Amino acid sequence: MVIEDELKEAAVFERRKPDVFGDAHPKALLRKVVENGDYLKPLSNQHILSTDQFDKNTLRQLFRLAAKFESNPERFSTPLQGKILISAFYEPSTRTRLSFESAWHRLGGDIMSITDRSTTGIAKGESLYDVGEMFNNYGDCVVLRDRSDQSLYEMVKSLRIPIINAGNGVDEHPTQAMADLYTILKWRPDLSSSKVDDKLKIRVGVIGVPNQMRTVRSLLKIFAKVPHMFSEVIVMHDGSTDPVFDKGQLEHLRNAGLNVNETTKVKKLVPELDVIYINSIAWIGDTYTSFQEKIRLTGKSKLKDSAIILHPLARGDELSTELDETPHNWYFSQARGAVFVRMALLTCLVQRTERVIDVI
Ligand code: CP
Repeated sequence: MVIEDELKEAAVFERRKPDVFGDAHPKALLRKVVENGDYLKPLSNQHILSTDQFDKNTLRQLFRLAAKFESNPERFSTPLQGKILISAFYEPSTRTRLSFESAWHRLGGDIMSITDRSTTGIAKGESLYDVGEMFNNYGDCVVLRDRSDQSLYEMVKSLRIPIINAGNGVDEHPTQAMADLYTILKWRPDLSSSKVDDKLKIRVGVIGVPNQMRTVRSLLKIFAKVPHMFSEVIVMHDGSTDPVFDKGQLEHLRNAGLNVNETTKVKKLVPELDVIYINSIAWIGDTYTSFQEKIRLTGKSKLKDSAIILHPLARGDELSTELDETPHNWYFSQARGAVFVRMALLTCLVQRTERVIDVI
């Protein structure tokens, strides 16, 4: 197989400890995608509210830029110099807040961080509309996480600087989905082509509840932007949540060309999958809710030798640490890659793209 040979040459796969944190995989992706900044220009000063806003060419170019950052982490240290990020996390976060802040710091920008809404005027009843109006004066970009799906839309009404949805209730988490797809493309750069041979398409199992988990909702939406990559996407659940799709959600994905199905026969299907995405918790209201507690991936799970596991994290019992030292572990790479994906997106939003790409 020509493509497999190319991949072996481009990326080092050490079976016991795969090189998922090194530069071989991002470099392999970088070689596959030709740079074209025209697709990135329209992102300038845009609000990023939903995965719906992206098309496949913009995503490819964002991933190329992310791969460029990940391949050369020391090369670009000042593109965001003089710019200020307002990082407003009104709901708990480890990865999203710190990776956005890491992304901004790595590009030379400054940050103001709010981790508790009770320390702001919101505790005195100030509206998000007014908070947005104030943010216009203090920074160049806002990243917002909130338990309500509507907060984002209230703030947008007064914002003149771009805002990124970092998780709005059970609705969406677009940059997480971008990090998820970026991970798959680093693992299999050949899938970044606009046409993928039927034999090379991947079969993906998504263990999660699409109408309750923002990560899964956004993941399926981003898959629907590149349906040609997949022979099938199967939502797998334990039957304890009914329904698992919102009204019209499945039809919308199918209409976009994604071959998506659902099943409760998880054990039977796991050995046939190329990628298994698993998540079992969602922040609903003021607390976390666990779903599908019967489904677990462990060292004993019968995975294909070549299969990779993704998880947006934080994990619970559904993903055993026994898998951490196996070649199936791409979830740590996924968390790492999110920094570079966010670097790419932030650079485009605050109009500094010309400092980091050659063809614009
Ligand atoms: N993946 C994710 O959203 O993690 P955090 O909740 O820690 O930000």
